[in-house]
Amino acid sequence: LIHPVILCGGGGTRLWPRSRIAAPKPFLPLVGERTLFQQSLERTRDPSLFAPPIVVAGEAHQQFVMEQAGEEARLIVEPAARNTAPAIALAAARLEPEDIMLVCPSDHHIGDGAAFRAGVAKARDLAAEGWLVAFGVAPTRPETGYGYIKTGEPLGEGHRIERFVEKPDAERAETFLAEGGYIWNGGIFAFAAGRYLEELQRTRPEMASAALRAVEEGRSEGRVFYPAGEPFAQITGESVDYAVMEHTDRAATVSADMGWSDIGNWDALAEARDSDGDGNHARGQADLVDCRNVMVESDGPRVSIVGACDLIVVVDKGEVLVTTREGAQKVGKLPGAADQ
Ligand code: GDD
Ligand code: MG
Repeated sequence: LIHPVILCGGGGTRLWPRSRIAAPKPFLPLVGERTLFQQSLERTRDPSLFAPPIVVAGEAHQQFVMEQAGEEARLIVEPAARNTAPAIALAAARLEPEDIMLVCPSDHHIGDGAAFRAGVAKARDLAAEGWLVAFGVAPTRPETGYGYIKTGEPLGEGHRIERFVEKPDAERAETFLAEGGYIWNGGIFAFAAGRYLEELQRTRPEMASAALRAVEEGRSEGRVFYPAGEPFAQITGESVDYAVMEHTDRAATVSADMGWSDIGNWDALAEARDSDGDGNHARGQADLVDCRNVMVESDGPRVSIVGACDLIVVVDKGEVLVTTREGAQKVGKLPGAADQ
């Protein structure tokens, strides 16, 4: 069985005013009726393929996790936010070395569940052979917020990774697209727990030792595990991409055309939602006349728009956001988003 590890951290400030500290992105029903976190759990709920999930989250998210996760989920509460490499190490240290982990973000949207499962089957086989597998997604623009994978020779039902570059600058990202042979890192990984810890021990020995010690000295309370705070807090935070994937020579990738979106901002969210024939999306009370590609979300007041294109209007708990689809990327820079 594969052990799903669901990571919950980060704020989702670019989805302000809907996503706030008191209501963070993973725990909101942004696409469909269920929250992104619940959908992440549902994707791995098949007991013939998956063990019960392990959720790794900070204390601030514990309440949300307990409310939204099923009875079967186990939770690891991080003593401090130290990014994904240490968070994954905590889960790895709680498993047996040969257990295959499927590390999934809690805040993505995947439109095609069958394609996701097909990707998981391919990744599992490579992970069982000792590879660290990243799920690749075909790139559509020179995005600087993602990791880039240069694929190498074929390997099983995937490829070796020739090079892994986390968050290149705009110029490099454009070169990668022009050169070809690069795919995006989708942020979903599969590997054996012991292999991950070995690689981390090699690339970031202090981080690995501290995470292992935090687990050794931790305590369980029912389904919740609390790693020891002192060793964990000493860790310098780093993501799995920088700490491990850029350095390991045992990296592989499987491609999955699974309707993936990281729902990075309101524009991406509009893409992931169903729209009407004019490309408009409305949630809550909205009247749109002669509009195209307009997205409205209101938790109360009626929003009326005439003759607009490529616009986004969000009304949430007394805050109003108006942006163009193109401007949506910069919403996190607003003072309102920063001090939510
Ligand atoms: N438990 C825990 N603790 N989870 C965390 C922490 C942490 O300290 N930090 C981040 N996470 C969770 C986030 O909630 C998210 O679900 C996932 O880990 C990935 O973290 P992000 O902060 O969203 O990473 P990113 O978007 O900058 O980059 C990653 O994802 C991209 C695709 O969306 C990288 O893997 C990129 O290479 C990749 O392209
Ligand atoms: Mg992300």
